[in-house]
Amino acid sequence: MRRTLPTAGDVAALDEADPLRPMRDRFVLPAGIIYLDGNSLGPAPKSVFAELDQAARHEWAEGLIRSWNDAGWFTLTDTMGDRVGRLIGAAPGETVVTDTTSINIHKALHAALALRPGRGVILAEAASFPTDLYMAEGVAASRSGASLRLATDSDGLASLIDDSTAVVLVNHVDYRTGVLRDMAELTARAHATGAIVVWDLCHSVGALPIDLNAANVDLAVGCTYKYLNGGPGAPAFIFAARRHHDHLVQPLSGWWTHAQPFAMESSYRPASGIRRLLCGTQPILSLRALKAALDVFDDVDLAQIRVKSLALSGLFMELVEPICRDFGARIITPRTEAARGSHVSIEHEHGYEVMQALIARGIIGDFRAPDIMRFGFTPLYLRYCDVFDAATALHDILRTKAWNDPRFATRSAVT
Ligand SMILES: Cc1ncc(COP(=O)(O)O)c(C=O)c1O
Repeated sequence: MRRTLPTAGDVAALDEADPLRPMRDRFVLPAGIIYLDGNSLGPAPKSVFAELDQAARHEWAEGLIRSWNDAGWFTLTDTMGDRVGRLIGAAPGETVVTDTTSINIHKALHAALALRPGRGVILAEAASFPTDLYMAEGVAASRSGASLRLATDSDGLASLIDDSTAVVLVNHVDYRTGVLRDMAELTARAHATGAIVVWDLCHSVGALPIDLNAANVDLAVGCTYKYLNGGPGAPAFIFAARRHHDHLVQPLSGWWTHAQPFAMESSYRPASGIRRLLCGTQPILSLRALKAALDVFDDVDLAQIRVKSLALSGLFMELVEPICRDFGARIITPRTEAARGSHVSIEHEHGYEVMQALIARGIIGDFRAPDIMRFGFTPLYLRYCDVFDAATALHDILRTKAWNDPRFATRSAVT
C-alpha cells in the first residue's frame, strides 16, 4: 500500500514542536525566500553587523595599529580556531582559522608527506571537490617522488590504501551526492598501513557532530562560509593533532609561522604549536564576521542540529521521491541516515533550468555540473513548512515544464 505523504498540516505541527525554532530569528532572511543553499554560503547572522561595526569603526578607525594587541587581532586565528575546534572534536590549540581551504589542503598534504618519508602516493577520490584534486596535483608535481593516485569510486578508496600511500585526501561529505563517509573507519584503515588521512570537512562542519580526536584524525581542513555562516570568502581552518605538532613541516613558511615573528630574524625558526600552519597577515574583518557567526553555535547543540537536519532532508526526499519518479529525475543522496550529510542532490537532465525556475520563485538551491540540483537543509533557520513549499514548487515546475523557458537556460558564471 502506498504511504500517504505528509500534509501541510503535518509539517505545521512539526514546526510547532521544533526546539530549534527560536534560532531562525538570529539570521537575516529576505522576505519571500526559502534558502536551501546554506551548504554553499550561509546567510548573515544578525549580530554580524554590530561586530563588523565594532571592528572597523572603533578598533580599526580609532585603535589603528594598537588594535593588533589591544583588540586581540594577532591571536584571532587561534581564538577562532579553538571555537571551530569545539565543533569538530579538537582540543584547544589544535586548530587555526586561516587562509582558504585550498591553501590549507596544500599545507596539509605537504605536512603529511613530510610525516611519511619514503612514501610518495597521495590517494584521493576522482569525484572529490575539484580544488582538492587540483591542489593534490600541484603538490604531487612539486615534490620529487610524489604522485597522485585516484580512486574512481568511493568503495575503491579504502581498498587502494597500501604501504606506498603516504596520505589519503578525502571529503567527509561528498559535495555532489551528499554521501557521508565513516571517519573513524577510514582513518583506522589508513593507519593500519601507516598512511595519514587529510579530511576535508567543508560539507560537514556545523551540520553534524564531528569528533576528530575520537576518530584519531591526523589533519583536517574546512571552510567557514557554508554551514558556519561566516560570510563570503570567510577564512578556512586547519586542524593538526597535537601528536604531530613537533614534526609539522609546511612550505608556506611565512612570518606568522615563525617562532618569534617580531624578533625580525633573518632565518626561519618555526613556531612550536598550531601557528606553524599559518602563513602571513590574516583578514581581520572576515575573522570578526566569523566570530559573530560562531556565537550562534554557542547556543545550540550539534546533536540537535543533526536530528533536525536528517528530519528535514528525510521529509524532502519523502515528498519529492514520487515526483522524481514521474518526471525523469533521480535522488542520488542515500536514504540511510548514517550515510548522508545535510544536503540532498537530485539528478535531472535539465537540472540547471529547473533550479533557475525554482530560484525565480524564491526557492534558492544550486546546481553542480553536469546535471545535479542541490538542496541544503540547515536546521538553524529552515522550517519544515519551507521544505514542504520547496517540494510543492519542484513538483509544479516539473509537471508544467515551467523550466522550459529560454531565460532559464543561460548559464551564469557561478551556478
Ligand atoms: C569539499 C570542498 N573543498 C573545498 C572547497 C572550496 O575551497 P576554497 O574555500 O579554497 O575555495 C569547497 C567549496 O565548495 C568544497 O566543497
